[in-house]
Amino acid sequence: MKRTTKTLRQAKGVSQIVCITAYDAVTARIADAADTDVILVGDSVGNVVLGFDSTVPVTVDMMAHHAAAVARVRPNALIAADIPFGVAHGDFSELLKICMRLMQECGAEAVKIEGGEEVAPTIARLTAAGVPVWAHIGLQAQNVFQEGGYRKFGKTESERAALLAAAKAHEKAGAFALLLEMMTPDLAAEITRGVSIPTVGIGSGKDCDGQIIVMHDILGLTPKKPSFAKVYADLGAQAVAAVSAYRDDVRSKK
Ligand code: KIV
Repeated sequence: MKRTTKTLRQAKGVSQIVCITAYDAVTARIADAADTDVILVGDSVGNVVLGFDSTVPVTVDMMAHHAAAVARVRPNALIAADIPFGVAHGDFSELLKICMRLMQECGAEAVKIEGGEEVAPTIARLTAAGVPVWAHIGLQAQNVFQEGGYRKFGKTESERAALLAAAKAHEKAGAFALLLEMMTPDLAAEITRGVSIPTVGIGSGKDCDGQIIVMHDILGLTPKKPSFAKVYADLGAQAVAAVSAYRDDVRSKK
């Protein structure tokens, strides 16, 4: 069954939403065969498969290239594509054009935007224009240079208040869901209880309306995975063994 923003909204309080990243047709087919609800073409494509150290160098062209590859699989999951670094904070008509490109040319069905309360007015304008927005709060990997690293969010009263306000502002702006990254589990639970739209957590405990994970982390394909990601299959090691066996066959003229 094809998942839509409506399916996701209806899942809140009823069933857990299963989200995973995919960046190409190979990983989209895996996500589809596993019957996941949402495929995120994340800007994590930058550090996970393109060899960058962070998501910051990822461009709109890169997102378009990868989103289109995922969409060609026509998965049942809702396809969401990340809006890259800086774009949501610039000129609105540029941003709208980028959303149009991702949806019209590449087949994305929603966009994800990192940002606190300050981006809520932009989200309101996008949703009014018919662009489904998944708002991403807590750890925002696109802020890595400003923050000087990655960390857990929601440990101080002022930060908790800011994140609660951002969640409420994004709900009011019409976001169809919230992504809560690296938040203290009690704050993620409080936000989940406090909004009518579904929350999807990553590194934020189990009391969200769903979870998201980077597929390459759980398949053992990333050299350094976050501590909260469980490895379900060590495909990296299996692939090295397979290529080594091929190497031996070639060298022995088998
Ligand atoms: O880009 C990404 O992969 C993300 C993660 C939080 C899933 O935003």
